[in-house]
Amino acid sequence: MAIWTKEELYKPIEEATREELEQLKKQVDKCPWRQKFHIQPPTGLLNDPNGLAFYQCEYHFFYQWFPLGAVHGLKYWYHIKSKDLINWEEQGIGIHPDHYYDNYGAYSGSSIEHHGDLYLMYTGNHRDEKWMRHPMQAIAVMKSDGQIEKLPEPVIEEVPSGYTEHFRDPKIWKAGDAYYAIIGAQRTNETGCIVLYQSSNLMDWTFLGEIKTSLQDFGYMWECPDYFELGQKGILVFSPQGLDPIGTKYQNIYQSGFMIGEYLDLKTLTFSHNEFHELDHGFDFYAPQTFQDDQGRRILVGWMGLPEIPYPTDKNGWAHCLTLPRELKLIDDQFYQVPACELKKLRKERCELETIVDSVVAFGSGVHYELECEFTNIQANEVGLNLRVGAEEKTVIKYDMTSKRIILDRTEAGESVATQYGTTREIPYENERLSIRIFMDTSSIEVFINEGQYVMTSRIFPTNHDNKIQVFATDGSCRIKMTKWKI
Ligand code: FRU
Repeated sequence: MAIWTKEELYKPIEEATREELEQLKKQVDKCPWRQKFHIQPPTGLLNDPNGLAFYQCEYHFFYQWFPLGAVHGLKYWYHIKSKDLINWEEQGIGIHPDHYYDNYGAYSGSSIEHHGDLYLMYTGNHRDEKWMRHPMQAIAVMKSDGQIEKLPEPVIEEVPSGYTEHFRDPKIWKAGDAYYAIIGAQRTNETGCIVLYQSSNLMDWTFLGEIKTSLQDFGYMWECPDYFELGQKGILVFSPQGLDPIGTKYQNIYQSGFMIGEYLDLKTLTFSHNEFHELDHGFDFYAPQTFQDDQGRRILVGWMGLPEIPYPTDKNGWAHCLTLPRELKLIDDQFYQVPACELKKLRKERCELETIVDSVVAFGSGVHYELECEFTNIQANEVGLNLRVGAEEKTVIKYDMTSKRIILDRTEAGESVATQYGTTREIPYENERLSIRIFMDTSSIEVFINEGQYVMTSRIFPTNHDNKIQVFATDGSCRIKMTKWKI
């Protein structure tokens, strides 16, 4: 892969020639791993979901976008909208990095409705002539006709003392009459944290200080913070960088997780919470964001990818997609992530199988489908599913009763990705039943376990054309009930 020069990385799309763009689009369209029902970039690289909102009866999503190739270059906000979370209309670029305060990228941020407009607050990645980074927090306003205009000046120009240039990703909400924004930060001692600002009008912001958690030394930077209340609990989400793997935890290059606690105390900035849990146990998940829709649902969308990792689609001029939207629920203080109910609209032809399995049983084939499988009365060493199976390929999700783990194995899934971080992901698990719901797209698998108690999200890059589906039980038997819908 050719190395991109600084000039190439920061070239605005407006300076690309028509031939260059057409050539890139052709290359992307030729890629065998383009997705069918996930949000993916038209060309180039997608990363964090941004500005997620339900506004004027429609869902508006934005994402971090570098248009000209599968690298982290000059970032734009790309805009898409939908009435049902299923059918998306491309709206093109939402925010251009064309002001001094975002001259090296319109970085991540969030949105809030105010006086009938949608306010988008984000980090301008400003760099000076000496290449010093000065992050500034900026606002762009989207009117109900979809026009977006940036304010001429940033609303937060300086990083408060005690913090480094790694200071970004504002998430806004309103409480009472005031607006609040949390920002992901790095202390000067190179530990990660989150700081809080307050405003009465979204224009003038006061630095309130750092959110007090019990994690004083937990990675070197916390990106993409989010705070919301669900039921009687406060939930803090963030993406810490710099955690070492422990047991089955923290296997990916960077993590994303949540802590459940009391409501954040906006006076003392205290957040009393329980432990940090990873949001997703798969290989490719980072920088999620949540929003609340008109039905009061708290919906989460993540980036199905990770920074600093090459992916097999890079050579075709594009990379990454967003995860499917998940509704967040707290049931008896347990956190659940359930695929948005609208996704059932994707279901087409259905087939079923109900039987006792004691070996490997075929269950048709497919590339784009939703699959539900209930394993009960498990009396075997292993039970599970082989998916996207060809002569020499398979992606496996199984329950290993001996090690008491649920295992997602992409060792033989097809073209490999980031194998230095391992080719299996595991969740400690002990139960006589297991329910698995899978969304399979061309190059991704999302596995929801026990109605959303755990999720495993991963890209896979199969090269076979058989794509068989098998269910198995090893050294024993179990009862299964499977339903598959084509998508
Ligand atoms: C997370 C992140 C954010 C930043 C954005 C830049 O993936 O690094 O912290 O705002 O991506 O694209």
